[in-house]
Amino acid sequence: MIIMKHKHLLLLAAVLLAAACTPRTKDLTLQTKVPARPAGQENVLGLTVPAMDTVRIGIVGIGARGSGAVSRLTYVPGTKITALCDVRPERVEWAQGVLASRGLPAAAGYSGDTEAFKALCERDDVDLVYICTDWIHHTPIALYAMEHGKNAAIEVPAATSMEEIWDLINTSERTRKHCMMLENCCYDFYELSCLAMAQAGVFGEVLHVEGAYCHNLDPYWNEYWNNWRLDFNQTHRGDVYPTHGLGPVAQVLGIHRGDRMKTLVAMDTKPANGPGRVEAKTGKPCEEFLNGAETTTLIRTENGKTISITHCTMTPRPYDRKYQIVGSEGYAAKYPVQQMCLRRSQLEQEANEQLLDQEKILSAEEMETLRQKYPNPMLTPELVELARTVGGHGGMDFLMDYRLIYCLRNGLPLDMDVYDLAEWCCLGPLGALSIENGNAPVEVPDFTRGAWNEKQGFSYAFAK
Ligand SMILES: NC(=O)c1ccc[n+]([C@@H]2O[C@H](COP(=O)([O-])OP(=O)(O)OC[C@H]3O[C@@H](n4cnc5c(N)ncnc54)[C@H](O)[C@@H]3O)[C@@H](O)[C@H]2O)c1
Repeated sequence: MIIMKHKHLLLLAAVLLAAACTPRTKDLTLQTKVPARPAGQENVLGLTVPAMDTVRIGIVGIGARGSGAVSRLTYVPGTKITALCDVRPERVEWAQGVLASRGLPAAAGYSGDTEAFKALCERDDVDLVYICTDWIHHTPIALYAMEHGKNAAIEVPAATSMEEIWDLINTSERTRKHCMMLENCCYDFYELSCLAMAQAGVFGEVLHVEGAYCHNLDPYWNEYWNNWRLDFNQTHRGDVYPTHGLGPVAQVLGIHRGDRMKTLVAMDTKPANGPGRVEAKTGKPCEEFLNGAETTTLIRTENGKTISITHCTMTPRPYDRKYQIVGSEGYAAKYPVQQMCLRRSQLEQEANEQLLDQEKILSAEEMETLRQKYPNPMLTPELVELARTVGGHGGMDFLMDYRLIYCLRNGLPLDMDVYDLAEWCCLGPLGALSIENGNAPVEVPDFTRGAWNEKQGFSYAFAK
């Protein structure tokens, strides 16, 4: 009996000892430096600049994307293109031709080298510097523009490192100039409808969202100026083009408008096809190609939501931005086909109850009924018609430009601020950090430095 008791005690002691020796679970989340906000500087949530009757625009970078911007902006009411810049003089000449064909005066032209943009930013007759260069020139041009009293609009991704992101935030906060990323996918018609429905509670509480940039770039790799895109992919891991996927779903979740991205982890496949492209171009073996053929980033938010973002540009597959909304009471997705699914209780409030079983996928007619019931407040019939006529990815590019100019002309906050830019761009550098550290969790900084919960939900500003 005594021996038995002894045995039990020994066993208990062994268990306690083992428990004491087992390493406690540690929070292994990696952190990056969050620079303190300089004294006297305030956040730029809801930033406005004085209303301007005509927005005078200087465009920098007139390659494939900038060419479309030159044409589109001539159709936006209240714009004047006063200056044009590209390293290559023939691109400036081409853009002058567009202005002439539209019966508009010639703009001041700058070209010759990668610093020519400085003279454009120093002009007195430019309110907005619209930047469509390759990725590594985005931030230096935007910083110079803001330092010279100009608002900056930057193509995607606006920044490629945490240093660049914080520089843009600090400069926008200090100069009180707008710094907006030109994320056109936030303006596609289906996304605009789903955003309005999500905000009206059609999908219940939104719990999980997905976005992607899956686009086989085979036909384009050789088209980029100076091979900038392949070079960047060769030298960077992580999701190097995350904003088309993340922007629209971040608006649904109200990121830095009542919720915030807290932690991310990223994982990539080994590279494929990239090394072969480099070898074909250089005629030499490719020693190192960093970007994976497919990169996935998972993010958890402060309010317990999750986001999944995919980047995939090297393999043959259908174009796909995913755009998926998973709510407690409903679901919407855009790719590969537009689909919505609601609970019966939700549907009972909608038209056409007879046709719908529980969780039945909605027909095109039923989706159209919902779209009409929950219109996006910024889409007027006239604007929709103009956007479809001018075009640019089916009209979304025009809607983005229109809203930017409308808000500037009316002295309103822009739809997207520098914190959106920061949150959507940080997946590149923070994802790379995760991947390079065994897919470790990485903390996503609160780029507003304390104000992410001040405003509740995404909204558009309108003139009274
Ligand atoms: N939002 C979208 O749907 C979309 C689509 C395509 C491209 N983009 C983005 O647009 C940007 C440009 O892409 P692209 O396909 O037009 O590339 P591109 O290579 O065709 O054009 C880049 C242009 O920038 C010019 N340039 C580079 N550095 C410059 C500098 N310092 N000063 C003046 N000009 C400079 C080059 O001469 C070239 O004409 C990229 O950021 C890309 O990610 C966005």
